[in-house]
Amino acid sequence: MNLIKYFSFFLSLTKNKFLVFIGFIFTAAFMELIAGGVFLAVLEFESAKRGNNFLTRTVYSILSSMHLPSKEYELCALLATCCIAFAIGASVMIYSNWFSAKLEARIFMELQEDMVIRLFGAKFEYFISKNIGNLNNIIVHQIFKVSSSFKSFANILSNATLASAYLVYPLVLEPILPVLMFVMTLPLLFAFRHINSKTKYYSIRNTEELGKLYGIIYQILAHFKYLKATANYRKIVSKLREQNLGLTYVMRMQSLWGAISSDGFRPVVITEIFIIVIYMVVFKHHRIDYVIVLMAFLYMAYQKVISIQGAYQSFLVSSGAILVYEKMKSELFESDETKLLPGSDMPVFTGPITFENVTFRFESKDEPVLKNMSLEIKPNTTVAFVGGSGAGKSTLVNLICGLLFPQTGSMKISGKDYKTLDVSRLRESIGYVTQEPVIFNDTVLNNITLWDKSFSDSIVSVSKRASADEFIEQLPQKYDTLLGDNGINISGGQRQRITIARELSRNTPILIFDEATSSLDTETERKIQESIDQSHGEKTIIIIAHRLSTIKNSDMVYLLENGEIIEKGPYTELYEKNGRFRQMVDSQSLS
Ligand SMILES: Nc1ncnc2c1ncn2[C@@H]1O[C@H](COP(=O)(O)OP(=O)(O)OP(=O)(O)O)[C@@H](O)[C@H]1O
Ligand SMILES: [Mg+2]
Repeated sequence: MNLIKYFSFFLSLTKNKFLVFIGFIFTAAFMELIAGGVFLAVLEFESAKRGNNFLTRTVYSILSSMHLPSKEYELCALLATCCIAFAIGASVMIYSNWFSAKLEARIFMELQEDMVIRLFGAKFEYFISKNIGNLNNIIVHQIFKVSSSFKSFANILSNATLASAYLVYPLVLEPILPVLMFVMTLPLLFAFRHINSKTKYYSIRNTEELGKLYGIIYQILAHFKYLKATANYRKIVSKLREQNLGLTYVMRMQSLWGAISSDGFRPVVITEIFIIVIYMVVFKHHRIDYVIVLMAFLYMAYQKVISIQGAYQSFLVSSGAILVYEKMKSELFESDETKLLPGSDMPVFTGPITFENVTFRFESKDEPVLKNMSLEIKPNTTVAFVGGSGAGKSTLVNLICGLLFPQTGSMKISGKDYKTLDVSRLRESIGYVTQEPVIFNDTVLNNITLWDKSFSDSIVSVSKRASADEFIEQLPQKYDTLLGDNGINISGGQRQRITIARELSRNTPILIFDEATSSLDTETERKIQESIDQSHGEKTIIIIAHRLSTIKNSDMVYLLENGEIIEKGPYTELYEKNGRFRQMVDSQSLS
């Protein structure tokens, strides 16, 4: 990306408000120009012939047209103009900084929200193919860097504008200066280029290394209990150390190149300015005070150029994040579900869910997980999927929810193909108790209602139906008790009951329970089963269970093996078939 592209990138991010910021900077620079011009005129105040050049001539002609009573008044008028112009310039500069900080904060907020929404809008397979630590890094850290890169870019522009303003008088009054400056600065430009390419390289490396680091930290925190209980954390800590060594090397190199660019050129540029001054005084016979003022302008311009270089360095350090952001945004755009699944029909639930010769394969795998599968789930019936671990049960319900889509075959609900449906509407109509209980680090109440206050009234009744009320009442703050990350403060079975209560409270026409009661004792499981049975005939209920006692009341049982349906039928009929299902039931001594 070149600077023009970055400019249009920020222009679109700020919805053109960046132009207002540029307007402020130009105003500030103009004020500096006025102040500088009047200051040059003050130098000639006592000389016999005022107005040595067009600029000072203009200032003095304006001054004489004011007919001030004495020279003292004239001096005061000049100095006051100078002060007022500087004050206005400084005030506009302060306001423009505040304005750009506001834009920066808005960029951070809007990009982050947009990214999270896009992530939800992308197909599920995009998410599962990603390292969560790295996604976290991009959504928090890299987007923060994108907004900081805006700040650096704004700094580059404001410093460049001010530097140009300071260069105006030396350039206009002594036009030979641009030639000298250009010739002498040429070698520095090459050095700047080299330094900038190094900084850019290390900036991208920094982003990559940070991504890996976030990945490891995420693993440590996600599996904290196991790592602590088995003291296996030492192994992952040594992996962390190795990763940190890589990152600190990159950070050291970034600092080194940063220091070279901010301090390395100062002596060279000062020498250049002195050479120019000597040339002007010795060869062009200019007055020394005139030359000194021009030199002061040049020095101020130089300071701004150094600030540009500093801002450019910070820009390069954070601009790696823009590439990372753009890459993820285009990946998310490619994976956008609304593009892949443009259907907009409202789903209806009066007819069955049908699979016809459905074959599904994960993108990361060669072998399909579900093979040529055909089935029918009649509305308001209870259907069970059973089978060994890895048979494809959870994948199957992920297809039913419209999280995954098959490569071949068709899926329909009430005769409508999933491809024609508005899948997010379909998902709103499905209560899904996932195999891993989902607990947010919040109160019991918020975990059940998901922050929706309209559900608060029914909370006790759904908790009762999920057999969760008794243990919740015993918690220190009852429904206001914090459950900790992933529900670390409660037991596995309690987590399951809270997730069941949450899905029951949504009152959806379809309910899916994937091993929803696997961590419960048989008595609690039976109670929950009874309350699920209350919806028998009223809702479509899909149950996945290893413990076959939970599926006795199902209208239909499908037995899966290696992604295929090997047996199907009502529970008793299937048992009497004397097949694989019977073996499974007998091995659990349930007959
Ligand atoms: N994200 C994924 N990427 C690639 N393969 C996957 C992914 N998730 C699951 N699989 C594979 O798909 C197959 C079916 O997995 P699935 O989770 O559907 O099994 P399951 O029947 O629910 O098993 P369990 O009873 O252990 O929960 C397994 O071989 C699994 O390794
Ligand atoms: Mg499963």
